[in-house]
Amino acid sequence: MTPSVETWAQELAGESPYVVTRRALEVFGVDVAIAFSGAEDVLLLEYANQTGLPFRVFALDTGRLPPETYQAFAAAEAHYGIRIEYCFPDAGRVESLVRKKGLFSFLEDGHEECCGIRKVEPLARQLAGLRAWITGQRRDQSPTRAGVARVELDGAHVGPLGPLVKLNPLAETTAEEVWDAIRAFGVPYNPLFERGYRSVGCAPCTRAVLPGEHERAGRWWWEEATRRECGLHR
Ligand code: ADX
Ligand code: SF4
Repeated sequence: MTPSVETWAQELAGESPYVVTRRALEVFGVDVAIAFSGAEDVLLLEYANQTGLPFRVFALDTGRLPPETYQAFAAAEAHYGIRIEYCFPDAGRVESLVRKKGLFSFLEDGHEECCGIRKVEPLARQLAGLRAWITGQRRDQSPTRAGVARVELDGAHVGPLGPLVKLNPLAETTAEEVWDAIRAFGVPYNPLFERGYRSVGCAPCTRAVLPGEHERAGRWWWEEATRRECGLHR
């Protein structure tokens, strides 16, 4: 039986990200999948692999990802012997947007419309077949993520059995700890991190940051800091 979110939260309090990942795979099996952005969340694949259990991974291919992220996907597939479930946006909706507003409309009128078509809708489609998902969200990524819990009920996404359970094994892990683990376990990572990137999204909406800048300063940098969420995590 699936434990309630409250029971899980108690059970998993103080446990390591590895244990949170393992419990998610034990409880949900093929009904849970890891959302992999091709960035430092690759550590989740390492933990899943260490459990020895089968695990599913999906990635939202927006069509605008940097080449290095595709390399990171391929490297992860080879390293862990998996196939990532790629999710593509609805072709008609993308065509309609770019024919009407061009390829860079987000610089003019904000990223919500483009993210809605290229990320949010494909995510909802992918999650519609699941009971739970695992993300790489961390509290230290942004003030908007300060309240991220290890386990929560995802009111924004409904699967066959109702709202999904959302697990964020790295919620309380710092960026430094993530990178220590990536190095320690020899995990393949996105080469953009060697070029000043500290957060990676779509190519036109992500840039490297300067020393001392916050890690999300390079995401949708032309917009206000409070609007720098793409709508995947509501
Ligand atoms: S975003 O909302 O600003 O784009 P961010 O890049 O911080 O998200 O990533 C946080 C988590 O959201 C990732 O660890 C991953 O679980 C999920 N995620 C973000 N982008 C994608 C993507 N393209 N494909 C799959 N999961 C993603
Ligand atoms: Fe579109 Fe930029 Fe959002 Fe990617 S991050 S879906 S290119 S607005």
